[in-house]
Amino acid sequence: MDEKYCIGIQELDTQHEEIDQVITTLFDALGGEESREPVHSILVRLYELLRFHFSVEESVMEIVSYPFVLEHRSAHRTILQRLDELKDASLKNGDLDGMDKSVRKMLALDIVKHDRVFAEFVRTHCESLMH
Ligand SMILES: [Fe+2]
Ligand SMILES: [Fe+2]
Repeated sequence: MDEKYCIGIQELDTQHEEIDQVITTLFDALGGEESREPVHSILVRLYELLRFHFSVEESVMEIVSYPFVLEHRSAHRTILQRLDELKDASLKNGDLDGMDKSVRKMLALDIVKHDRVFAEFVRTHCESLMH
């Protein structure tokens, strides 16, 4: 996994890695001669992975009383909403142009920007959670 996706909390990094792998699979499916069905299945898998990942992240935020939990949660909701639309579009043969880029962009923003700020908070306030 790209170093920049590494926030330093092991459980969350492992999940980020798995998410990144599914996004690569999505890219591959979009680039090939695949039918809509595999793309839809990948989107469903990605959605479920993210739903789980976000709930774990948000639980840790609650536990450590992270002050920006509302903003971060709202960013997660936006991503899930967008993915939900894409899941529908992929079933209805809707326009998926630019989908891979938009999904990757949103997730990169969440992991590289928001998750890093959160990880920094955990690092400075809760050393014991890091191991
Ligand atoms: Fe994350
Ligand atoms: Fe996040």
